[in-house]
Order: sequence, then structure tokens, then C-alpha cells
Amino acid sequence: MEAFLMELVLCLLLFFTIRTWAIDTLTPGQSIKDGETLVSAGGSFELGFFSPGNSKSRYVGIWYKKVSTGTVVWVANRENLVSDASGVLSVNEKGILSIMNGTKGIVWSSNTSRNSAEEPIAQLLDSGNFVVKDRNDSDSENFLWQSFDRPCDTFLPGMKIGINFVTGSERHASSWKNTEDPAPGIYTYRVDSQGYPQVVVKKGADILFRAGSWNGLYLTGSPLPVNPLYSFELVLNENEVYYTYQVQNNSIYTRFLLNPSGLIQRTIWNERTNNWEVYATSQSDQCSIYAYCGSYATCSTNESPPCKCLEGFIHRSASPRDINSVDWSYGCTRRTPLACHGGDSFLRKTGLKLPDTSKTWANISIDLKECEKLCLKNCSCTAYANLDVRGGGHGCLLWFGDLIDIIEFSEGGQDLYIRLATSDLNHIRSKGKLNEKLKAVIIAISVIIASGMTILALLLYVQKIRLRNTGEHGKEDLELPVFDFTTIATATNNFSSNNILGQGGFGPVYKGTLIEGQEIAVKRLSKNSGQGLEEFKNEVTLISKLQHRNLVKLFGCCIRKDEKISNKKQITGLAYTNAYCRWNC
Ligand SMILES: *[C@@H]1O[C@H](CO)[C@@H](O)[C@H](O)[C@H]1NC(C)=O
Ligand SMILES: *[C@@H]1O[C@H](CO)[C@@H](O)[C@H](O)[C@H]1NC(C)=O
Ligand SMILES: *[C@@H]1O[C@H](CO)[C@@H](O)[C@H](O)[C@H]1NC(C)=O
Ligand SMILES: *[C@@H]1O[C@H](CO)[C@@H](O)[C@H](O)[C@H]1NC(C)=O
Ligand SMILES: *[C@@H]1O[C@H](CO)[C@@H](O)[C@H](O)[C@H]1NC(C)=O
Ligand SMILES: *[C@@H]1O[C@H](CO)[C@@H](O)[C@H](O)[C@H]1NC(C)=O
Repeated sequence: MEAFLMELVLCLLLFFTIRTWAIDTLTPGQSIKDGETLVSAGGSFELGFFSPGNSKSRYVGIWYKKVSTGTVVWVANRENLVSDASGVLSVNEKGILSIMNGTKGIVWSSNTSRNSAEEPIAQLLDSGNFVVKDRNDSDSENFLWQSFDRPCDTFLPGMKIGINFVTGSERHASSWKNTEDPAPGIYTYRVDSQGYPQVVVKKGADILFRAGSWNGLYLTGSPLPVNPLYSFELVLNENEVYYTYQVQNNSIYTRFLLNPSGLIQRTIWNERTNNWEVYATSQSDQCSIYAYCGSYATCSTNESPPCKCLEGFIHRSASPRDINSVDWSYGCTRRTPLACHGGDSFLRKTGLKLPDTSKTWANISIDLKECEKLCLKNCSCTAYANLDVRGGGHGCLLWFGDLIDIIEFSEGGQDLYIRLATSDLNHIRSKGKLNEKLKAVIIAISVIIASGMTILALLLYVQKIRLRNTGEHGKEDLELPVFDFTTIATATNNFSSNNILGQGGFGPVYKGTLIEGQEIAVKRLSKNSGQGLEEFKNEVTLISKLQHRNLVKLFGCCIRKDEKISNKKQITGLAYTNAYCRWNC
């Protein structure tokens, strides 16, 4: 009797277990019907049938399970819907996935290039990747098929978008037609490998937005502090090019979404508000519209109008009558044609999003000096720049043809050397000297009418120039992100005394938390600490070079001079962990 009871309990337990045990795997012969799901082992993602928005059509998709339940990240049968709840997903002995409808018609099936698996299974991984693989082979290189190879509108951590030069195959994200139709819309987010590769959003065949080319640290279109929670990477070799990213902490849920209107939104799940918060939208102003100012012009969000011809170039209009036209699509043209042989020089322009690289030539082992020579040798070369900004910069990128889609940033950005007729360059230089003299006169006048406050302001102004100048001599571009002051202030609860961890050599050290939850230590230097900007820079340089497990790693810096602060303190924040810094803050 007791044994029987025991058996019954066991059976019940078993029954119970089977019914609630979330499975992540399908084997040949098994299937999931509409209403049943697979759940990844860590519980992050779920796969099953769903209907988008108010639509009644059924699709097989993957959505978040732990957070933001229902946010779909991938759809299998984007273009071939199941009209009712009769759909079934299964995998066969060859490892091919298929969705069948009520009349056993195949609505969608996967395509495997290899069918060498002895025991194929389909498994939903905790990264959100749905894969077909050999049961005993977890090497991602050997997957027979994976959903990460066929992105829809969502670019998840670990996905790669790019091109395989050997097979000619391409992976790119494509928008949904609309919120109720997951079929591919007109927008794509991809790596364009014409010339030196760049990441772009295209509308059909046209570039809508150019995130830019990779300079070793970031895409040149987004020079602002790289969030230390992400690590981006662009891999380029003879076999392939791809852009990918990872999240440092797996408890953070983040995604890039290419929405039905062609906007890329980078969002992070905020557990406190239970919401996706838009962390960054790259296409937020006119300057992000591809070639908004036409050729040989820069776009600057802080200025009105935003477009300006590069020095040495003049506005080109459609006809002689509309010389004052606000239409910049014609861009600018050279004041003086290039002399080509021996008569040209280069104007160095700093803080830029580098121009479109679709007509460029690149070599990573050539230095800047050699790069200049190469550019001068070829009459159609219009500009050059370092390919990689790390370690003071190396590599050579040469532009042939018009310079298009340049942004002038107020912070960060890269150097570009623009080819001009030497006579134009001399003209620009003499104008620059005149401006400097004017500045000196203004400073002199200001000193005469100076109050204590203005003297301070001037001192700071001069220091700012000095800082800029040291940056100009090129050995800089330290590898640390610059934080803006507000970020640091928010993180430390406005430098609350409750957050003080201790007193360092040059000022207090605060404990802080960035919005994304990352804990940081912030060192605030005061003007009367005796540490000047030079010493500060030296300290930052030193700390950033030290890699010791007992030392917190430096991950950013922030320099601010604010005349409005009455205690005349120079506020300087320092956040410790790892990454990179530029001195033009
Ligand atoms: C099932 O799918 C097949 C093939 O796509 C199609 O011809 C058929 O009309 C579908 N049946 C239903 C009931 O939707
Ligand atoms: C499978 O892929 C091959 C090569 O990429 C292609 O030629 C073929 O049409 C595809 N088959 C299906 C059913 O999509
Ligand atoms: C897979 O591994 C299991 C246990 O390690 C083994 O019993 C089985 O034979 C293997 N299957 C194949 C196809 O190699
Ligand atoms: C990841 O973030 C969570 C929550 O913010 C935190 O508890 C955990 O310690 C972090 N893990 C790592 C490795 O930083
Ligand atoms: C790059 O430049 C180096 C040095 O001049 C040269 O040896 C190498 O062949 C070049 N590579 C390519 C791909 O042109
Ligand atoms: C200049 O560069 C262009 C583009 O790479 C090339 O087609 C052309 O042959 C080069 N001209 C000379 C004289 O090297």
C-alpha cells in the first residue's frame, strides 16, 4: 500500500514536472503547437506563436521572457503568416525547421547549407539565438542554422551584422513594414563594404544615415563617451567584415531597434520603471541626415544655419540667381582649383565625423607622414586621415572624390587633412592670425575693466586655450571617455557628503552610481588643491596606464571650469574603471 502511494506520488511529481518544466530544445519528431513555447535555459527568452499588435495573423517569434514580456526580437515567418491557431513548428532529421498550417502546408522552412549533423536538435539559447546544431556540438562555428544569421529589426548583443567576402552572404537588420506586419520594410541597418567599410541605415538603395567608419575605438559618427557597459567591435579581415557588440553585465537587457520609420534606437530595460528607455538615438538632428550640407561642407548642430563650407570652399548654388539659397544640397566648391603637381597643401581640421568612406583607400601599416605623401602623389586624392586613432594614431585612409557628410562636433571627433591649393591655405592662415590679434585686443580691454570675477574668467579662458593647445600637438588622444559634468553630479547625488568614500591627495573621493547601475568612484579636485591641469592630466595618464588588480581602473574623466561657482573652485571629476579619454573636453 505504501509502495503504491509512493509510486503515485512519484507519478504525480513526474507529471507535475513534465507539465511545468520549460523546455528549450526540440528534437526531430517533437513539435510545438500554437500556444506552446520553448524557454531558454536561463529564462531570458521565449519562443512560440504570437500575433503582432491587433493583427490576427500568427507568426513564430522570439520575445523577452524575464523582462518586458512580449517584446519580440525575431520572427521566423516574416512574410508567410499562419492565418489561424493551427500552426506547428518542428525540426526534421536533417535539421530543417518548418512551420506547418492546419492543412499540413509548409508555411516557412529554414535552409541549412550543411546537413552533416548526426543528431540535430533545435535549441533556444539564453542570448536569444535560436539554433539548429548537433546535440553534442556546442561550437557556434558548427551550428547548422541560427536565427542570429537572419536578424529582423533587432540587433541583440552577440549578433553580427556584416558581409562574408568568401560566400558573399550578408547579414543585416531590416525594419518591420509596420507595427502589425513583421515583413521586411524599406529600411536596413548594415555594413556597407564599398571603400573602407562603414555602418549605415539605408532606405532601399539610398543611404539615409551613416553611423560612420570604425577608427579602432568607435564609429566616427558617435564620438561621445562610449558607455563602459557596452563593448563595440568592428572586425575586418580578408574573409569578412562585421559589426557587433557585447554587454559587460548579463543582467542588463539592451537592444538596438530599427523601427518602421528607419530610426535606430538603442534602448536599455529599466527595472525600476519597467520600461525600455531610449539610451541613444543617433538620428536626432538635421546633421544626421546623410549629406545634409552637400559636399565639402560641415554640419554643426550647435550653429544656425548648421551648414558651413570648409575653409577654402564656397557655396555652390543651382543657378547664379539663387546664390543666397538655403538649399545646401549642392554643397560647396573649391575657391581655387588644385594645382595637383607640387602646388597643394593640407588644412588640418579637428573634431570631425569623417566623410563618407565609399571612395577611399586604406592601409593600416602606413603612418600619417607617408599618408600625406601618397595623397599628394595622386591628383584625385582630396583628403587623408589616420585609420586608427588608438595609441596616438596609425594607419592611412585616403579619400578620392568629393568629401561628403561631415559633422563638426563640439566635443570629440577626429582629425582630417583636407587638400587645398597652397594659395588658399596661405589665405586661411593669414586670416587666422588676424583673428588671434583681435582676440588679444579684446582680452586687453577686458583686463582694464576687470572685476575679480572677470579676472578669474579670463584665467580660465587662458587655461582652456592651453589645454586645447597641448591637445593639438598630437601625442594625446588618451584612451578614456570624457563624462559630462551633469552625469557625474547625478551619479554622486550632487557630490553629497553622504557619498564621500574618503579623502584623497587632491580632494574627496565620492561613491557614485551611473544611471545604468555601474558603480564608480569619483575624485573631485578643487582649485586650491594645488593640482593644476597639467598635473591632473599627468595623473589621469598615469592611472590609465596602471593595470593592477588592487587599483580601480580608470574609465573616464571630466573637466569643467565654471565661472558661476562662487567658491572659485575648479570642479574636476574623475571616474575610475576602464576605457578611454580625449582631452578636448
Ligand atoms: C496552408 O499552407 C499552404 C501552403 O502555404 C496553403 O496553400 C494553404 O492554403 C494553407 N492553408 C490554410 C488553411 O491556410
Ligand atoms: C537555400 O539556400 C540556397 C543558397 O543560399 C538557395 O539557393 C536556395 O534557394 C535556398 N532554399 C530555400 C528553400 O530557401
Ligand atoms: C552524444 O553524447 C552522449 C553522451 O556524452 C553519447 O551517449 C552519444 O552517443 C553522443 N551522440 C553522438 C551522436 O555522438
Ligand atoms: C551586474 O549587475 C547586477 C545588478 O546591477 C549586479 O548585482 C552584479 O554584481 C553585476 N555583475 C557584474 C559582474 O558586474
Ligand atoms: C600597406 O603598406 C605596406 C607598407 O607600405 C605594404 O607593405 C603593404 O603591402 C600595404 N598593404 C596593402 C594591402 O596595400
Ligand atoms: C589615383 O587613385 C585612383 C583611385 O584609387 C586610381 O584609380 C588612379 O589610378 C590613381 N592615379 C594614379 C596616377 O596613381
